[in-house]
Amino acid sequence: MVALAGGLTTVAPADADTAAPRGTVPCHLRINGRLYNLFLDPRVSLLDLLREHLHLTGAKKGCDHGQCGACTVLVNGRRANSCLALAISHDGDDLTTIEGLAHGDQLDPMQQAFLDHDGFQCGYCTPGQILSAVGLLAEVKRGHAALTDAEIRERMSGNICRCGAYDGIVAAVRDVARRDGV
Ligand code: FES
Ligand code: FES
Repeated sequence: MVALAGGLTTVAPADADTAAPRGTVPCHLRINGRLYNLFLDPRVSLLDLLREHLHLTGAKKGCDHGQCGACTVLVNGRRANSCLALAISHDGDDLTTIEGLAHGDQLDPMQQAFLDHDGFQCGYCTPGQILSAVGLLAEVKRGHAALTDAEIRERMSGNICRCGAYDGIVAAVRDVARRDGV
């Protein structure tokens, strides 16, 4: 058993016969392909679990109110603001953070496109932008919508970039979309 900060406790292996510490509930999450079997304070947000307890700091806390998109992760392939969700509400879910997007040393095409098109400056918003863009393309594929630049801007409007790197972000999404045949 490994104790985590803030009174949270993680237990391994998955079938460990361990009683839940007082005030916690069991929660099983798959994050970037790794299974986490946790006892969680039910008040902890998904973002705080990732950043403060599992040390996956790619997801950023910009506003903590669902306004900026810096905390975006993929939940079962769909983009979500991790600051707005209680971690326990995702029991059984499959999460991807920016740390898990690349395939070994091979960047995900969206990561590479952000590099190729200068889709960032300071980089603070970038993990959320990239995961949101990956989720956007999946949405468009499911809905068979036409992906104009205006549509990209609208669908990415939940991700704020204080550096104003929007032209590069749109170019990156457009590039990957075209190569994907979207
Ligand atoms: Fe979650 Fe801003 S930190 S939307
Ligand atoms: Fe700086 Fe977006 S690159 S906030």
